[in-house]
Amino acid sequence: MPEHRTAAPRHTLARLPGLAFGGDYNPEQWPEEVWQEDVRLMREAGVNLVSVGIFSWALLEPEEGVHDFGWLDRVVDLLHEHGVRVDLATPTVAPPAWFYRAHPEALPVTREGVRYSFGSRGAICHNSPAYREAAARITAEVARHYAGHPALALWHVHNEYGAPVSACYCDTCAAGFRRWLADRHGALDALNEAWGTAFWGQRYTSYEQIDPPRLTPGTCNPSQQLDYKRFADAAMRENFRAERDILHRLSPGVPVTTNFMTALSQCDTVDYWAWGREVDVVTNDHYLITDGRRTHVNLAMAADLTRSVAGGAPWLLLEHSTSGVNWQPRNPAKAPGEMARNSLAHVARGSEGALFFQWRQSRRGSEKFHSAMVPQGGTETRVWREVTALGAGLEALAEVKGSRTVADAAMVWDWHSWWAQSAEGQPSVDHRPQERADSFYEALYDRHLTVDFAHPEADLSGYPLVVVPALYLTTLSAGENLRRYVENGGTLVVSYFSGIVDEHDAVHPGPYPGALRDVLGLTVEEWSPLLPGETVRVNGPDGTSARADMWSEAVVPAGAETVWSYDDGPSAGRAAVTRHRLGAGAAWYVSTRMDAAGTASVLRAARADAGLAERDDLPHDVEVVRRSGDGGDYLFVVNHSARPARVPLPDSGTELLTGERTTGALAVPPGAVRVVGPDR
Ligand code: GLA
Ligand code: ZN
Repeated sequence: MPEHRTAAPRHTLARLPGLAFGGDYNPEQWPEEVWQEDVRLMREAGVNLVSVGIFSWALLEPEEGVHDFGWLDRVVDLLHEHGVRVDLATPTVAPPAWFYRAHPEALPVTREGVRYSFGSRGAICHNSPAYREAAARITAEVARHYAGHPALALWHVHNEYGAPVSACYCDTCAAGFRRWLADRHGALDALNEAWGTAFWGQRYTSYEQIDPPRLTPGTCNPSQQLDYKRFADAAMRENFRAERDILHRLSPGVPVTTNFMTALSQCDTVDYWAWGREVDVVTNDHYLITDGRRTHVNLAMAADLTRSVAGGAPWLLLEHSTSGVNWQPRNPAKAPGEMARNSLAHVARGSEGALFFQWRQSRRGSEKFHSAMVPQGGTETRVWREVTALGAGLEALAEVKGSRTVADAAMVWDWHSWWAQSAEGQPSVDHRPQERADSFYEALYDRHLTVDFAHPEADLSGYPLVVVPALYLTTLSAGENLRRYVENGGTLVVSYFSGIVDEHDAVHPGPYPGALRDVLGLTVEEWSPLLPGETVRVNGPDGTSARADMWSEAVVPAGAETVWSYDDGPSAGRAAVTRHRLGAGAAWYVSTRMDAAGTASVLRAARADAGLAERDDLPHDVEVVRRSGDGGDYLFVVNHSARPARVPLPDSGTELLTGERTTGALAVPPGAVRVVGPDR
């Protein structure tokens, strides 16, 4: 199996009955009387799993080497008595104040050379030996203490690696970077070559001369920046592995996770393909970004990416919000029904439940205005009523557990390619690879296709259609992989700015797009990004035409046929969208940023090549996703629209949330979710 493929996680959430429901529980913020009310309300809502202890280091180890587990014992026992299982955290994301007084060097340093202070959380230099030792010690203490506890369902290592600090630029990290580079590149000549240090006189004659990409007067070497991102990610992963191995050793059989943030808008510093191989169970945190775009599309994309990182296996949504968050400029409350819709949309795409940040809304601290399952207003609230209804809904869906979401198409995604595109000195500041991914994903979503994500070197043969948005960094073997995929009958759609550089950010020799010339059957002579507000017209088959902006280029077909051409702008008269028949398949190339109608039209044609039937019978903004398991198929229908929807059903079945028998077609009220399972 190629190195990049995600291994199936070793454990499932088998220790949990049915789908998981609950949230982060921070009882240390409350007097013990409140705990009694908490467990009573958890029961009332159907909570069966809570994450505990994430930020508890200072309470568990009030002085170096002095431990106090009394309060946490009482919490975990109480939860157990009330039938709530525990996702127990290692508290290593929040080292205590005493630790930093003793080891100020463990506070991370910014690229500008400023050292962070204590007073928040996650202020960690992941290469600090003092931090690593202290983290290993507290992890072992917690593991030993709770290994045999019957409430323990899952180990939660750390919290959201990659945030709020993803890379530290201190001297310890500099030394670690040099060792990492020597490992990766070997002889210094190889590094000089890979980084292109002949340019601007950056040649190194000793590894000792190399620093992290700290503040430089002009653009810092982009290959150096790319390697630093890899190094910083690897350092965090090494720390995760260290804790995981301690937990495996001292608490065998209990699965270990750490909560990811796969949404591209929420974390851009972690290579989740690599992390997916390290955890026993993939878990994810997802928050709606209210930037004016359709939040449910962004949610679906993050869920699909999470499932893909889990190798297609079920995963768990470990955090989302019951209503508004408090860390965006404006934090709207969720509309009635939106929380359940969000939760069940995650379940449709493979989550084995829905958990929240957090159980009880804090009265103090930085997150007192963040929604929770028990709001400041208590139980006489809409949020609480919806929480209890969701608990009941998840209970009714218990049988979907273990089934797998079925995808129709794939999108190629690679964090390293994303990182490489974030360096300065690019053709246009308006180009953002995640924007291309979002936009193609949205087009696929609107055509009712369920999408898996795949690493560029992964086996794609199971997918009739594969979309490749802005894969700027494409290794030769990835290029080969895509060519083989098409030759063997696949349909590929590739956007501009793909296939340009190798793994060191060096341009592939010859005309663009070096790694993809063969499969696309073309070369690109020159790019000409468009200015803000500038648009061009592109004309397609049968009199169709569309607007495009941001990017244009001079495509020279060499085997590919021209399907759309530029009508005006810098590339007037030249090919804009091409199709290359190769072997048993076809490769499409889209050389500009087409409007939604243009993109839809290209995807419609590619879909025909792929032999994927259109679903014009499904209404807009009604998500239809299938999970398939030993017990049969489960059809999730999520109506995000304000209109009642009617969805044709392939088979008769039982709607699990209402218990009604369904046949022929399913009626879904505005904003509602329905799940049809096999006939009872
Ligand atoms: C993250 C963290 C939580 C909390 C939430 C708030 O997901 O893991 O501790 O801060 O954000 O949205
Ligand atoms: Zn550091």
